[in-house]
Amino acid sequence: RTVYLNGQWLPEGEAHVSAFDRGFLFADAIYEVVAVVGGRLVDYEAHAARLRRSLCELGMACPFDEASLLALHRDIVSRNGVEEGLIYLQISRGAADRTFVIPKDTEPTVLLFTQKKAVLENPQAAAGISVVTLPDLRWARRDIKTVQLLYPSLAASEAAAKGADDAWLVEDGLVTEASSATAHIVLGGRIVTRPLGTEILHGVTRASVLDLARMDGIGVEERPFTVEEACSAEEAFITSATSFVVPVVAIDGTPVGTGKPGPVARRLREIYMADRL
Ligand code: PDD
Repeated sequence: RTVYLNGQWLPEGEAHVSAFDRGFLFADAIYEVVAVVGGRLVDYEAHAARLRRSLCELGMACPFDEASLLALHRDIVSRNGVEEGLIYLQISRGAADRTFVIPKDTEPTVLLFTQKKAVLENPQAAAGISVVTLPDLRWARRDIKTVQLLYPSLAASEAAAKGADDAWLVEDGLVTEASSATAHIVLGGRIVTRPLGTEILHGVTRASVLDLARMDGIGVEERPFTVEEACSAEEAFITSATSFVVPVVAIDGTPVGTGKPGPVARRLREIYMADRL
């Protein structure tokens, strides 16, 4: 694979970052993940907009104008011959002597790589996934897509150790989100999903799926929901750039609805793929 690092295209084994990079020492970096299907970018504009927002919230300048950022994404897809998979992009504040006060005028470190992955024929979409609930111990600005992924990674690993596919994170009895996806349930035929705020990432797939649901006549209620509501819901599902829409069929060992993927999640996956691919 070829990776992009700070203006250069390099074989992956030759891409090196400074030991003093603030992304490495302080998790002072943001990222985005964009899906690729049929060699084309999925929901690209919204990911680019969120990237700018994350940088802005951390007082970092975006090192690219809109056209060159898009060109970079297209370029890496064609260089690596990606038909289906994802593009990972990370921008850190760059290397500097280690100080807690953020130094001015550092050169950002920009990295892009690709991963080939079957996103269309995802066995989890057909079978559904099981989740376990865990406390949400992340920081309070989850709306910024930073690389502080230690807790989500610990939570996903704990879920795996318990034989589940993922974790749903819970704060004050309310579900925030999955370890790396947005959490939703279906109650009375309507989608219930947490409203946007600083407690969750503003999912790009969430926004697309909710828009398409409304146009399809499916009701949407944006309000926080409890673990008990989720366990007694007709359906539950997650959304993310790499999973699109995947049903959740068990929460903490309790089957959700029939314990099988339900019609709303199936319909949402269908209309998302029909509209966005
Ligand atoms: N994760 N919530 C969290 C905490 C996430 O990390 C993600 C995405 C989402 C879904 O957002 P979107 O629909 O914009 O992908 C929600 C990416 C895929 C990742 O970390 O790999």
